[in-house]
Amino acid sequence: MRITDTSDLWWKNAVIYCLDIETFCDSNGDGIGDFAGAAQRLDYLAELGVTCVWLMPFYPSPQRDDGYDVVDFYGVDERLGTLGDVVEFIRTAKDRGMRVIADLVVNHTSDEHPWFKQARSSKDNPYRDFYVWRSDPPPDTSSEVVFPDQENSIWTKDRKTGEWYLHRFYSHQPDLNVANPAVRDEIAKAMGFWMELGLSGFRVDAVPFFLETEGIDGHTGDPHDYLRDLRRFLLRRSGDAVLLGEVNLPFEQQIEFFGDAADELTMQFDFVTMQQMYLSLARGDARPLAHTLTDRPGIDPDSQWATFVRNHDELTLDKLLDSERQEVFEAFGPEKNMQVYDRGLKRRLPPMLDGDPQRIRMVYSLLFSLPGTPVLFYGEEIGMGENLAAEGRLAVRTPMQWTHEESAGFSSAPPGKLVRPLVEGKFAQDSVNVVDARRDPTSLLGFMGSLIRRYRECPELGWGSFSLIDTPNPAVLAHRCDWEENSLFLFHNFGAEPTEVSVKLKDGDVPDGGGILTDLLQDTMADIQAGDEMQVELPAYGYRWLRVQVPEVGRLW
Ligand code: NOJ
Ligand code: CA
Repeated sequence: MRITDTSDLWWKNAVIYCLDIETFCDSNGDGIGDFAGAAQRLDYLAELGVTCVWLMPFYPSPQRDDGYDVVDFYGVDERLGTLGDVVEFIRTAKDRGMRVIADLVVNHTSDEHPWFKQARSSKDNPYRDFYVWRSDPPPDTSSEVVFPDQENSIWTKDRKTGEWYLHRFYSHQPDLNVANPAVRDEIAKAMGFWMELGLSGFRVDAVPFFLETEGIDGHTGDPHDYLRDLRRFLLRRSGDAVLLGEVNLPFEQQIEFFGDAADELTMQFDFVTMQQMYLSLARGDARPLAHTLTDRPGIDPDSQWATFVRNHDELTLDKLLDSERQEVFEAFGPEKNMQVYDRGLKRRLPPMLDGDPQRIRMVYSLLFSLPGTPVLFYGEEIGMGENLAAEGRLAVRTPMQWTHEESAGFSSAPPGKLVRPLVEGKFAQDSVNVVDARRDPTSLLGFMGSLIRRYRECPELGWGSFSLIDTPNPAVLAHRCDWEENSLFLFHNFGAEPTEVSVKLKDGDVPDGGGILTDLLQDTMADIQAGDEMQVELPAYGYRWLRVQVPEVGRLW
């Protein structure tokens, strides 16, 4: 490996942590999280091993889509702080060795954005072309809406001018017209602004919708040309900045967004693998996940998959067959109030697994051992649950649980004054919180910290090539990651029965003269010779990370 690669391509083995300033930590007791509060928690994130913080939207917004409805791309929601507070936050994160990226929400604006107010004021307003209009009545688009509980068309008629505007999401989120060069300039300017303030890139919202120009009169350009332009612009401004894109499409279509020359999105969330993982969990059968990982297209060494168990939205199961989705619903969210949009769940992992610590740990072991860069959603590290009484996706966006106190140490305001209701019941702050977890060496938090350390110490996982290892037991996912001289062998038992897997080591897997087989999660070692078979015992929902290595003086493990 070249030294320049490991330090420059930081996203290849980063640990990304998504948080919403509004719900993370409140410094002034008004019940709303803020930048000053989150800055006080950066040491906690650094200690956990996070290397990159992803901030959900913090821009001024009427909050009709939790901040994904922006009215000013250059501002800060005044409840959360000031531009100065943002800079202090980024600077402090950098000081602790962490980068910061933020949501770039430029598929649409809020309908209260000054551009849209202008645009809808008359057909010849200079801002009219910032949005997408049609003059004839739209066809039935009810099957294309993203939020079927709220919308039944992707076009809404504007009363004043009598034309319809496009909105892929809510009708209060008109889509920007990215075929318009003036809009492209504005987007680039906003990106440049935040990078000057220290951001290391963006999580790009709704990429396929953002790029879509079909239906825009007179536009025939290739949307990928535009994405390449944006990436070039980004790299001119800051050589190590990334675009982490939200592209929830089948692999064949998704792969195009990395670009043929790795010149579009730097990273993409792997929605397909995430969904198949839940199917495997529901069935106690690793094969759906194994097949998907085998089908996952190869990517350029500079690009990266972002793997995740949970994000801030519904846990979407839209890429499963109807019958498969029903299986996952039955296993993990059988009640209607656990489901949302007929395609997803509004639950977090621990309640879905009835709080079973072994099974929860198996899932996170899997997350950190899949090739890619793991992304955590705040609170996962302590095993937070959801509040099903909260509307839709807000169920999983409850305040972070720092202590057992009545407002969970999130705020000094009383619970009734908090920006969002807390989790109640078994996963409430009296049993799930950071302070107690830090004092308990057997806690999930402690386990996550050790997984993160191991992940960071094993470049095979972020950088290496993946292959499946055949096992006769369908409950077991056995895979290996190879990179340069190193190989990791990884085993996950999706079944409720203990089992044993035997793996014959291939020529070259063991160094001449013998090697050492190290169990990276249990800190045990054994001698191993070429031609040996590894016998790997796995308890119910067990997991093992094994490495065959040269018996070299000075190894840490
Ligand atoms: C995707 C975001 O993840 C989601 O939360 C939001 O509602 C939509 N994009 C619209 O911005
Ligand atoms: Ca506050």
